[in-house]
Amino acid sequence: TEYQGAYRAHTNIALIKYWGKADADLFIPTTSSLSLTLNALYTDTRVTFSSDYEADSFALNGEEKSAEEVAKISKFLDLFRTEADVDFKARVESINHVPTAAGLASSSSAFSALAAASRQALQLNHISDQELSTYARRGSGSATRSIFGGFVEWQKGTKSENSMAVKIDDATWDIGMVIMTINTKEKRVSSRKGMAHTLKTSPFYPEWVRQNKIDLARIKDAIEAQDFILLGEIAEANAMRMHATTMAADPSFTYFEPATIKAIQAVQDLRASGIPAYYTIDAGPNVKVLCRASQMNQVEAFLANQFEDMQFIKTTPGPGIQQLDRW
Ligand code: DP6
Repeated sequence: TEYQGAYRAHTNIALIKYWGKADADLFIPTTSSLSLTLNALYTDTRVTFSSDYEADSFALNGEEKSAEEVAKISKFLDLFRTEADVDFKARVESINHVPTAAGLASSSSAFSALAAASRQALQLNHISDQELSTYARRGSGSATRSIFGGFVEWQKGTKSENSMAVKIDDATWDIGMVIMTINTKEKRVSSRKGMAHTLKTSPFYPEWVRQNKIDLARIKDAIEAQDFILLGEIAEANAMRMHATTMAADPSFTYFEPATIKAIQAVQDLRASGIPAYYTIDAGPNVKVLCRASQMNQVEAFLANQFEDMQFIKTTPGPGIQQLDRW
């Protein structure tokens, strides 16, 4: 007996960041967050549950992953096996589609694709997309938001069942993102460790939680009004507030590299030249520039002038999870 499912999920970038867990086992965050799903970056995943398999296995981009990686996947798949009341082992195959050197692939697309593929394989048709986001969350917090396309809010909720994604807007207006790939190597401090350390030791952390609520409410108004400038200003400020919490941690740390600061200044120059553009930065040195989709080429040209040899990824907003009919 064999059950199979295959799905695509796109990466999302938070404009209002998730940075800290109220419950680390259940991945319940301290704050709600809001993201934009991206078209250019995605993961395709096929999962096969079979009575013939003796153990779970996982291959990423054609490469078998270590026992440690497989253990994480197994724990995640157990949520679905429990729900479906089956104990078949599984084979998971994933391909990350990142249009440049490796390193930008994210756990957000990975766990939402695996969640959707598992729901399909085990015929858990009673699980709605919204409920599916609560499953994706258990693999990686940011994966909660990749179930849907466009602007998505992850409502922190009060318990596992209601800490879930809610679609806010299709983002079918003139919005784009130019990703500056400053360093595509593995990050030095994972977001998981970084947020836990910050929550525990940064005196700025309570203020982050307080301010994040205000930023979220304001950005939702900006989205509703399709006010791009306000949206950009709030997203940029929120990202810097997150990074400020890490600098105030004990011991202090930062995800910024020298080129990150240089990129921030370049975006400020770009803005001074009359092109509306705003940056956001996650748990790594890369800078993501939010701009008008219709101005992405201009933005890239301006930045390429200051950063020789840099690879840029230009993307418009992307869709939610999609079933793959062929593998
Ligand atoms: C800075 O979702 O990678 O990108 O839940 O521990 O897997 P875990 O962390 P992860 O954290 C993402 C942090 C962030 C901000 C965000 O995406 O909201």
